[in-house]
Amino acid sequence: MLCHDSEMFLCIDHVGIAVHDLDEQIAFYVATFGLSVVSRDTHLDHGVHEAMLEVGPQRDPAADAVLLGGSYVQLVAPTHADSPVGRFLDRRGPGLHHVGYRVADIAAALAVVADRGVRRIDERARHGSMGASIAFLHPNDVGGVLTELVQAAR
Ligand code: CO
Repeated sequence: MLCHDSEMFLCIDHVGIAVHDLDEQIAFYVATFGLSVVSRDTHLDHGVHEAMLEVGPQRDPAADAVLLGGSYVQLVAPTHADSPVGRFLDRRGPGLHHVGYRVADIAAALAVVADRGVRRIDERARHGSMGASIAFLHPNDVGGVLTELVQAAR
């Protein structure tokens, strides 16, 4: 994953994938692609069980140092049928659910995209996985793609 400095988006932080059975899909990603689970959470208020599996991180072999945080696959499963992910699975079945872009300053990024006419699902950032601050943008204003902004924990 190439990360670079830009005004707003630093890199793709993660892709979110909707699944019916979290344990089963974690096992698949671990056994098939060799990814490892770095966090697992349930957010009852949003009706989601989720797991983050790391791809990377980028290393500098000379310095034996991590240059940048890795990127992730986020598996999301519904806690109950009548939840956003549950309804998504009903309509579209399992598969790609959202794209999360890493930003340096989520409040600034939210203001910029709102200014450019993109509606926000989250008016302000809220708590996400691994201490990150996150906010979702309306898919209808992003060509049908549910889009998430992520400011990583320091
Ligand atoms: Co996400």
